[in-house]
Amino acid sequence: MSQMNGTQPVIDIRQITRSFPMGDAPLVVLKGISLTIQPGEFVSIMGPSGSGKSTLMNILGCLDKPTSGQFWLDGADVSQMNGEQLATVRNQKIGFVFQQFNLLKRVPAVRQVELPMVYANGVKNRRERAVSALESVGLGDRLDHLPSELSGGQQQRVAIARALVNQPAMILADEPTGALDSRSGTEIMKIFQQLNRERGMTTIFVTHDSWIARHTRRVIMLRDGLVIADKQVAEPLVAGESERPSEDGELEGIFKETYFGAPEAAFS
Ligand SMILES: Nc1ncnc2c1ncn2[C@@H]1O[C@H](COP(=O)(O)OP(=O)(O)O)[C@@H](O)[C@H]1O
Ligand SMILES: [Mg+2]
Repeated sequence: MSQMNGTQPVIDIRQITRSFPMGDAPLVVLKGISLTIQPGEFVSIMGPSGSGKSTLMNILGCLDKPTSGQFWLDGADVSQMNGEQLATVRNQKIGFVFQQFNLLKRVPAVRQVELPMVYANGVKNRRERAVSALESVGLGDRLDHLPSELSGGQQQRVAIARALVNQPAMILADEPTGALDSRSGTEIMKIFQQLNRERGMTTIFVTHDSWIARHTRRVIMLRDGLVIADKQVAEPLVAGESERPSEDGELEGIFKETYFGAPEAAFS
């Protein structure tokens, strides 16, 4: 237990570093990151290419281990675990959603969603639970469809149902709208907002897209392996209720503001 009182964070990392051996001197990619994320938060992680977002996500997802520092996930001291224990934690505590959906080509939707329960031994009523997860993302009428018979947005909804079905402590999503057109992206964002609002699902997004990030409730900005900003979004956008700025210049302005300051503008 990292904490005896109050709410137990889903994520509690302290002074995490990650370096990779490179010739003369190790390449230090994460330089000491400390964060807590509480149950029910909806967070986006932003930052320029190469800033360490994927490296951090891999650690949060227990796919990689930090070089130094401490990490508690839902109260468990993950930094002490071996590979097998980490695999169990991944299966039980984390739902992953990827940019490219990562569905199996020849497998119908309902079977895709049953799979995580097959890996978690002893789960009963797999089919019922898979059906109910698909219903919760609006795909109750697409159970037997193959990925090739679904739109991109529908495929991503299958992936979300698969991420949810083991009732994880959090969802980690790496650019989940990155491969979708804006209408499907909005549809996916609506589902994430609904899961967060109605079920308190803790959700962590990596995104390049500051307009997408404004739909979440907290934005953490990385730069060069460090957290340079960590802000609550004053008024998160509601998916489907506002138009994406159509002008490149306008988007560019949001990027600048997001990366380089103007705290009074975008976030409080
Ligand atoms: N396995 C690795 N070995 C060596 N360098 C790595 C490895 N993974 C990432 N890096 C380096 O770490 C830096 C950050 O990478 P990454 O976390 O992928 O950034 P981002 O996702 O923000 O674009 C990059 O310079 C990258 O080349
Ligand atoms: Mg990356």
